Amino acid sequence: MDAKALKIEAARAALAEVRDGMRLGIGTGSTAAEFVRLLAQKVAEGMTIIGVPTSERTAALCDELGVRLSTLEETPELDLTIDGADEIDPGLNLIKGGGGALLREKIVAAASARMIVIADESKLVDTLGRFPLPIEVNRFGLRATEIAIARAAAELGLSGPLTLRVTNGEPFVTDGGHLILDASFGRIPDTRALSNALRAIPGVVEHGLFLGMAGLAIIAGADGIRSVQA
Ligand code: A5P
Repeated sequence: MDAKALKIEAARAALAEVRDGMRLGIGTGSTAAEFVRLLAQKVAEGMTIIGVPTSERTAALCDELGVRLSTLEETPELDLTIDGADEIDPGLNLIKGGGGALLREKIVAAASARMIVIADESKLVDTLGRFPLPIEVNRFGLRATEIAIARAAAELGLSGPLTLRVTNGEPFVTDGGHLILDASFGRIPDTRALSNALRAIPGVVEHGLFLGMAGLAIIAGADGIRSVQA
């Protein structure tokens, strides 16, 4: 099975967790998009859900496929969020933000009673950090924020390039109007310490470490579907 087929299988298994009438946070990325496609089929068959998207991209896909959407303002408490991830460790801590939606993804997941992460098995790691950590930063004082991040990381024994994310030759701008620095620190042994240190930097809006948020991971691999509880 190729990666796309595995993503579809993980998404299909997650759909079984969705009940009629649920208030549902809907993730961003290629795996979450497969989930939206399957969800849209259920909606067409009569399932009712109230969806809250984690990005403009996901909102556009839901609109196109007829999945009814609300906003987090209208629906501030959600039953379940289903989203992808860039990396998943054995404790279900995640790196997210490869698609640039980490801020809304984290806000929506935090407003949900439960978060399920869906992925193919290539996303599993022993220690987070092989995937560059996305850090969403305010445009103001970008250079000063970069220096502060590098210093904070160095105090934790981490170093590596901080790369401003660029698409089509222009800085990538998030749905919130911010920029993204991708931090290639390598393995991050103490994710909580790094999370706290990044949070303490005023120019950092949010980062892609999702610690203790996912309650269940549905992983699709060559041997089938595996569910991992936090
Ligand atoms: C979007 O910002 C990300 O957090 C995605 O959830 C993550 O990058 C996984 O995307 P894929 O499912 O496309 O790998």
